[in-house]
Amino acid sequence: MNSQVAALLKNQVNKEFYSAYLYLAFSNYYYGENLDGFGHWFQVQAREELDHALKFLKYLQDNNEKVELNAIDAPNVSFSNFREPLTAALKHEQYVTGLIHAIFRQAREVDDFRCCQFLEWFIAEQGEEEKSTGDLIAKYDLLGGDAKGLYMLNSELKGRPLATEEPAAAE
Ligand code: FEO
Repeated sequence: MNSQVAALLKNQVNKEFYSAYLYLAFSNYYYGENLDGFGHWFQVQAREELDHALKFLKYLQDNNEKVELNAIDAPNVSFSNFREPLTAALKHEQYVTGLIHAIFRQAREVDDFRCCQFLEWFIAEQGEEEKSTGDLIAKYDLLGGDAKGLYMLNSELKGRPLATEEPAAAE
């Protein structure tokens, strides 16, 4: 594997673990504020990020790359209102999209078609994550302004299912 592509992929393993840790911190914040639906929503998000980290790790392992597991930064979670973590999440997803695009650009530059194909899943996933986070901000802006609306939105968010790793096998 091209050394620059490998270095970017290895860095991404850490970034995805950081994303999981960041969302777990958001989840923890909301549980502490008695908004268990928001807490649940971000816990599901954290699990998805863990899954992303493991996908990058497996890809590197499958391609005979040695991966060092580096320290994960502590997330900053001091917020002055319930909306702030939502906008921080969107900003973070946009940042991660940029990272994925940078890896793709490098892989394309060196004709690493396998890596480009591997990254296509993540490019689509980033689109979905930016949309779901943006949608959540829009809902918050519609409903979050009063206690009744916030209660309703919190109840709705409790229903977010865990994403399944693979589609269920056909019977
Ligand atoms: Fe793994 Fe939310 O990007």
